[in-house]
Amino acid sequence: MVQQTWHSDRRLTAISRASLSVPARQAMVDKQVLPGLTVLDYGCGRGGDVRALQQLNFRAVGWDPFYQADTTLEPADVVLLTYVLNVIEDPRERRKTLQEAWDLAGTVLVASARLTWEKSKVKGEAFGDGLLTSRQTFQYLFGASELRAYVENVTGVRTVSAAPGVVYAFKDDRARLSYLARRIVPDAEWLESEDTTSAIAAVIDYAERHGRLPRMEEVPQPMAELLSHLRPNEIRRLVRDSADPRKIEEGVKRTTLNTLLFLAVELFNGRGPFSSVPLGVQLDVRAFFSSYKEACQRSDRLLLKLRDDAYLRGAMSASAVGKLTPTALYLHQRALDRMPTVLRLYEHCASIAAGRPQAWTLVKLQYQGRAVSWLDYPDFDTDPHPRILSSYQVELKTLETSHTSYTESRNRPLLHRKHEFLTPEDPDVARYRRLTAAEVRAGLYEYPHLIGTENGWEAELNRCGRALRGHRLVRAHRDE
Ligand SMILES: C[S@@+](CC[C@H](N)C(=O)[O-])C[C@H]1O[C@@H](n2cnc3c(N)ncnc32)[C@H](O)[C@@H]1O
Repeated sequence: MVQQTWHSDRRLTAISRASLSVPARQAMVDKQVLPGLTVLDYGCGRGGDVRALQQLNFRAVGWDPFYQADTTLEPADVVLLTYVLNVIEDPRERRKTLQEAWDLAGTVLVASARLTWEKSKVKGEAFGDGLLTSRQTFQYLFGASELRAYVENVTGVRTVSAAPGVVYAFKDDRARLSYLARRIVPDAEWLESEDTTSAIAAVIDYAERHGRLPRMEEVPQPMAELLSHLRPNEIRRLVRDSADPRKIEEGVKRTTLNTLLFLAVELFNGRGPFSSVPLGVQLDVRAFFSSYKEACQRSDRLLLKLRDDAYLRGAMSASAVGKLTPTALYLHQRALDRMPTVLRLYEHCASIAAGRPQAWTLVKLQYQGRAVSWLDYPDFDTDPHPRILSSYQVELKTLETSHTSYTESRNRPLLHRKHEFLTPEDPDVARYRRLTAAEVRAGLYEYPHLIGTENGWEAELNRCGRALRGHRLVRAHRDE
């Protein structure tokens, strides 16, 4: 039995799971685990993920050298290797395990590991390159980009960080590039259509948003059937007569920029041949550029601009959205797609290297140096001055990551002027603006250096005799 040669009690590392693990959930959200595909959970422990996936009607099986050694190991479309690499104390066996999991993957390997930011939670004595806990379990904690580089090194393919500590390695470039394209522009949403008239309306809507007509291969099957009796020329004429030319023009601009962004991200992640670029992007390149070469040259220039301090600072100052401070631009997740393309590229490159965290509210793009932070303010919508819960930062030159949790902090940083992080059209902006104006009138922003944290803000509210009721500022009663 394999486990007899183990130098730690690896079986004790397997926990009982009541719900899907973070990496399995991420793979579902990212449409890597899909109905019809086979899934192998390699090192499945007590099998919680396998059962949860089976209950969701996925074709999942698990194998584990201790808990599920009877399963016949067979290749599967998707292989999950969830928190296994951490517990293997022998670096050679660690590599071999990753290699074995990769060899079994038909389309994608989802490799995950616990990260160095959990260091304070893992106590033990030094053992090999990790720690041996008092329960005789071993833990090697990875840096987020170290994990990505490690998986890349063993599998020999380009990898993408789906989230911190979750890395996808794809068997072919086509699958990797479709995933990257979806990260930049999620799959188009089509208007509901039950008859030919509504199907035509849906095509017109697509053309206005995208700047071009869809090809029949891009149209969902039931809708394509509703349109099948129309000739392509007829559809083209209907769209030409009914679509709003201004919207089409905006669609052209948006898709051109999205295509450049995709090609620049692709270059950052390793450029593949045109044939492996998703069909939709190939059609966009044909529609909006003179050639693939021209599109690539423009996207290469975009990537180069990321290195140019003056250019980046200019893009930040010109950005119609976000709060600009002397060192960085901050903006809300809802406003992300409204940033200048070079800034969207900045954020995407960082996220591919180190993964966007599962929960985040604001992104911070530093303009001195290159670093991106994702900041979590869980009560952003309900708290007039939301408190920070955590931040995750990646430094783009070294790919070093750091994570700060504020759960234990008694004097957390908080936000003011929430409207500045959102687009002007956001439905909440008017309410936030009114509050800021009232706070300014009450003198609460007279000493900006005092109000950045909970205690200072409370003290200023007291000094000014004010209290907050939701997003309204009121006079405080003496006894409050
Ligand atoms: C932390 S648990 C994770 C279990 C499961 N993947 C989950 O997330 O619930 C680590 C698991 O790795 C398994 N394991 C240890 N060495 C292994 C190896 N060489 N190959 C595959 N799995 C291994 C252990 O038996 C243990 O069940």
